[in-house]
Amino acid sequence: MLDQSNVIIDVHVHTQDPEAIKEEIRDGLLSTPKKFPTKYFYDDWGSTLFEQICELPEYYQTRTEHQLLEAVADDIVAKTGADELVELGSGAATKTRVLLDAMARAKQLRFYVPFDVSEGIVRRVAQELVEEYEGLLVHGVVGDFLAHLEHIPDGGRRLVVILGGTIGNLELEASQVFLSSIYDEMDQGDFFLLGVQLITDVDRLEAAYNDSAGITAAFNKNMLRVLQSVIGAEFDQDAFQHVARFNHDKHRIEMHLRSIRDQVIPIPELDLNLHLHEGEEILTEISTKYTRHQVEALLTGAGFSPVEWYSDSNHLHGLALAKKR
Ligand code: SAH
Ligand code: AVI
Repeated sequence: MLDQSNVIIDVHVHTQDPEAIKEEIRDGLLSTPKKFPTKYFYDDWGSTLFEQICELPEYYQTRTEHQLLEAVADDIVAKTGADELVELGSGAATKTRVLLDAMARAKQLRFYVPFDVSEGIVRRVAQELVEEYEGLLVHGVVGDFLAHLEHIPDGGRRLVVILGGTIGNLELEASQVFLSSIYDEMDQGDFFLLGVQLITDVDRLEAAYNDSAGITAAFNKNMLRVLQSVIGAEFDQDAFQHVARFNHDKHRIEMHLRSIRDQVIPIPELDLNLHLHEGEEILTEISTKYTRHQVEALLTGAGFSPVEWYSDSNHLHGLALAKKR
């Protein structure tokens, strides 16, 4: 759909088969432990809460990646020669501006493709960016990056990016499959930039997901509201508690919604009565932390050739630049 001459927004989320959506949620609730698909955090309100998380003193990740990008964006632009930026899980695209600025400085900024499951934020970002960057064309894609990658428009000299550590929200196997499908969608000579959260001390990590203002708890519980609109289940948010802790074996934070009492939630759309006992947890998110070696193994496993590794002086965040040769 053409909104104005330099903005195009394609929406693919509503084309998903409703039965497939229900089956995915039902499968999660029938597994052990019970889990919900992480993408249901991100309706408009969830995206707003995530923007607030990025500003929290405990959530060091966003500002660390922001500062790192400021230090290395010119180098990335010089190495890639990209005139087009494709961003998967683009969200509010705040840090993206650092890359767009560097491309503009190099006089090679032409095209930006924000790709996100959250429609409101893709529309907002597209509008903001065409106003901020003269002559920029924005082709937004509202879709599930695990299902709709083929809708990335054909491009020029592309740099595809995933920032923020979003890759860590996928199970290892799923992240390998995801990276391979990104590789398949890219053209020879395109570059890929992957932002990852690195392994650090547990106290710092657990604090980042248990902020004192309670924003992460609200973000976690918002999923219950989103799921209410998707599958019609009437969850009582007050009957759940936010829990986030580090899993040492899998070096990842795991977020859960813990039932504070025995409860039965009828979900007719799933043909299911959800039985939860007091203290039982539903897994809502994993957030894996990596070493450089693990990230490069993932990239090469997908077919990419690593080009450069950037990290901050405290080794909290990494940016891996790779190429499809
Ligand atoms: N890149 C931004 C936002 C990270 S939050 C940053 O670094 O701050 C993760 C983003 O990925 C959210 O905007 C969310 O809506 C999006 N997202 C999560 N799962 C997705 C999926 N399956 N398909 C497309 N976007 C998804
Ligand atoms: C988007 N993603 C990288 C965030 C993370 O840290 O895993 C999501 C988040 N969940 C709670 N706080 C932030």
